[in-house]
Amino acid sequence: MCGIVGYIGPKNVIPILINGLKKLEYRGYDSAGICFLNDGQIGIRRCAGKIKALETSIKKDRLKSLIGIGHTRWATHGKPTEENAHPHRAGGIVVVHNGIIENYIELKEALKKKGHKFTSETDTEVICHLIYSYTKKGDNLELATKKALKHVDGAYAIGVISEAEPDKIIAVKNDSPLCIGIGKGEYFIASDIPAFLKYTRDAIILENGDMATLTREGCSITNIISNKPVRIKPTTITWSPAMAEKGGYKHFMLKEIYEQPRAVADTIRGRFSVEKADVNLKEFSLDKAALKGLNKIFLVACGTSWHAALVGKYMIEDMARIPCEVDIASEFRYRRPLVPKGSLMIVITQSGETADTLAAQKEAKRLGAKTLTICNVVGSTSSRDADSIFYTHSGPEIGVASTKAFTTQLSALYIFSIAVARARGGMKPAKARELFEDLLQLPEKIESALHCDKEIQKIARKFHKVNDFLYLGRGINYPIALEGALKLKEISYIHAEGYPAGEMKHGPIALIDSNMPVVALAHDDHVLEKILSNMEEVKSRGGKVIAIATEGNTKIKARAPHIVYLPKTNYYLTPIIFSIPLHLLAYHISVLRKCNVDQPRNLAKSVTVE
Ligand code: F6R
Repeated sequence: MCGIVGYIGPKNVIPILINGLKKLEYRGYDSAGICFLNDGQIGIRRCAGKIKALETSIKKDRLKSLIGIGHTRWATHGKPTEENAHPHRAGGIVVVHNGIIENYIELKEALKKKGHKFTSETDTEVICHLIYSYTKKGDNLELATKKALKHVDGAYAIGVISEAEPDKIIAVKNDSPLCIGIGKGEYFIASDIPAFLKYTRDAIILENGDMATLTREGCSITNIISNKPVRIKPTTITWSPAMAEKGGYKHFMLKEIYEQPRAVADTIRGRFSVEKADVNLKEFSLDKAALKGLNKIFLVACGTSWHAALVGKYMIEDMARIPCEVDIASEFRYRRPLVPKGSLMIVITQSGETADTLAAQKEAKRLGAKTLTICNVVGSTSSRDADSIFYTHSGPEIGVASTKAFTTQLSALYIFSIAVARARGGMKPAKARELFEDLLQLPEKIESALHCDKEIQKIARKFHKVNDFLYLGRGINYPIALEGALKLKEISYIHAEGYPAGEMKHGPIALIDSNMPVVALAHDDHVLEKILSNMEEVKSRGGKVIAIATEGNTKIKARAPHIVYLPKTNYYLTPIIFSIPLHLLAYHISVLRKCNVDQPRNLAKSVTVE
């Protein structure tokens, strides 16, 4: 996720920008840049790689300026190169941007026809050119920015400066975070508060549509949606710098769990058209003919991503009626798999660098399969090796335990399943529309599912001292039982197992006694009655059932002492909603056991060795 900083005031802006960018490093980035005005002239310095490299490259120039904007870019559109690094410039207009512009291809084409020349592959550059085109017609920077943004669909937080108005920074927020720091005779913009916490603790968190104008005289804000001025009421930030980096959360994992409504919204943004009842296949370099010709789909991954692959099989086979095989990547590479003609391998990897997954991808290619990677890191090895790519855009995940990366992988698989079903004629437009509408409501449903946190904390307090946990699920939620168990063991070091509930009687039932908490995933679907019977079996042997159920389920009440209710969604989306209490449970138990939540022992975020 990109980071923005900006400053106007009496101090030299260069160290302020560099320090601010360093404070935003935790957001993840692969290139960085700054822009400043000196004697009314724009200066831009950018480089691929780390801020240190940028700092070294500008050191000898002894730059000085009293206004500037800076950016760390986490690549989404275009590789992490110097050309794609922000700030971007058109004429005398310079822009930094965080977010995704959905309609940038159409905007770029239209601008090119009017003679605009582009120098990067980014979606951001269209914003610069649009603003520039209005300033050329005589509009001032505020008006030009406002008019330009009327053309733009998507999420953005932007910082803009202009050579023609050298004492002004414009900042606008829509669905990507942006805040203003109010100092004594100085003003800051930033994606997050730590960037200016060293200079001021007075901050304004911008709302969607807010456009702030920062000048040497002061700061004013207008909402460009309502066209009304916004009353400036700064909040005093009391967080410590360490907490501020985590957005006020105690751990990155908790922050990332709470980021899911935004992360999923970014994954699904611009990926389909409800009106056309279709997926925008071009986004992934796929076409209908290729999907039509498929005979078989392999899904490979490791760990949590493998759980996503298991859910993917349920989604794809059910919606698109095409056979799927799921492999743990380290097994696929050594098992002499049979890969028929017309096979596609879906490679699921948050990092895009997992050694076993890359080897499986290579093997599938050798055996003649096409590959599609579902990945969170632009330009990663897996995405470079793939024929098609579905970037999840969930933003960097810092906590070793995967949370938002997982639910965004599931969202990507849902979209892909609809794409295959539509291409093969197995899904009517009305059904696709219904599924898209459900997906559009998902971020809100996740938001309300997060309200279960209090209830989960109570459960965590009751059970954090046990030695074993069992998780049961059925159908599409069986992989979520595996995921709940994995998350608990990796961050709390409690032994936990996930099982398909129907398998209980074939072995694990022997483990059940009064010390054994059993988490049962009881979603309202065609196997609800079955899982209710499994819960009875646990109860009658003294086991403690923690039921995760859908709101309005009245049958569950008598069967479990602990029940967590979650909002209703369609069957395919329940794994996303049901992951939330399980990730929260693992988190709170880990905290109560005083474990290292974000960096559990023996684990690494990216497993680049076999
Ligand atoms: C568990 C977890 C790991 C990863 C696995 C694969 O919380 O994060 O199990 O899912 O190491 O990593 P990626 O998705 O980067 O290939």
